Amino acid sequence: MVFSGKTRALSALNLDIHAGQCLLLAGSNGSGKTILMRCVAGLLDPNEGDIFFRGRPLNQAGRALRRELGLIFQDADAQILGETVEEDIAFGPENLGFSKEEVKARTVSALEALGLTPKKEDPPRRLSGGEKRRLAVAAFLAMGCDTVIMDEPFANLDWPGVVQTLEIIRNLKQQGKTLIILTHELEKVLAFADRLVILHQGIIRDDGTPMEVLDRLKDEWGVRDPRKSYLNVEDCSWLPKG
Ligand SMILES: Nc1ncnc2c1ncn2[C@@H]1O[C@H](COP(=O)(O)OP(=O)(O)OP(=O)(O)O)[C@@H](O)[C@H]1O
Ligand SMILES: [Mg+2]
Repeated sequence: MVFSGKTRALSALNLDIHAGQCLLLAGSNGSGKTILMRCVAGLLDPNEGDIFFRGRPLNQAGRALRRELGLIFQDADAQILGETVEEDIAFGPENLGFSKEEVKARTVSALEALGLTPKKEDPPRRLSGGEKRRLAVAAFLAMGCDTVIMDEPFANLDWPGVVQTLEIIRNLKQQGKTLIILTHELEKVLAFADRLVILHQGIIRDDGTPMEVLDRLKDEWGVRDPRKSYLNVEDCSWLPKG
């Protein structure tokens, strides 16, 4: 449970995240998605309740958690640490105490995997929004994270940017990584999901396979069923023209 004063951001919540699953977390603005994942990543302490990571309470998981779980923020700028792209990626494995050679090898391979080698000398702040997100994924790959949480990975991306992000997601999934994706843009990634969880006013309202959950959607949860088709220009709005 997370609250400040009388406002309760999360309550009565029970969520098991299974290794190797791709879980989508949806819900309206302010429903608690980011806060919940900040708790899972150990960045925020719930006032009540326990979080376990691989069977151990989160506060005891310490280094193992940092090493194995990466949260990519909604605002990628907030995560930039290095003066160059290469430095930024190297920072994580350095911090985990890997040898110089191992840091170098991991950095080179993460740069390559995310297509960032040509930009390795660039200052990260000069990258585009989509490239910054790729940088964040590269940084967690270099640390060897098995679980990657992406908070709104498609925000502000053009079509090729979305496709690139989906390629990253597909690769991570093929490598057996556990993926948690917080998004309003279900239509872009639903096909990759094993599970869809709906959060509304800090409470999990539904949890199941994407098909099951979409069939049970309630309007008040603020999530639109992406299976609605767009066959004509007239359909291409989320509100009838009137
Ligand atoms: N430390 C905190 N304690 C209690 N409430 C908080 C705290 N931080 C933020 N909140 C409130 O919790 C609510 C949920 O915020 P959160 O960022 O998790 O929403 P979200 O589901 O990620 O929304 P969005 O789709 O807009 O990103 C917000 O109304 C916010 O004001
Ligand atoms: Mg959020």
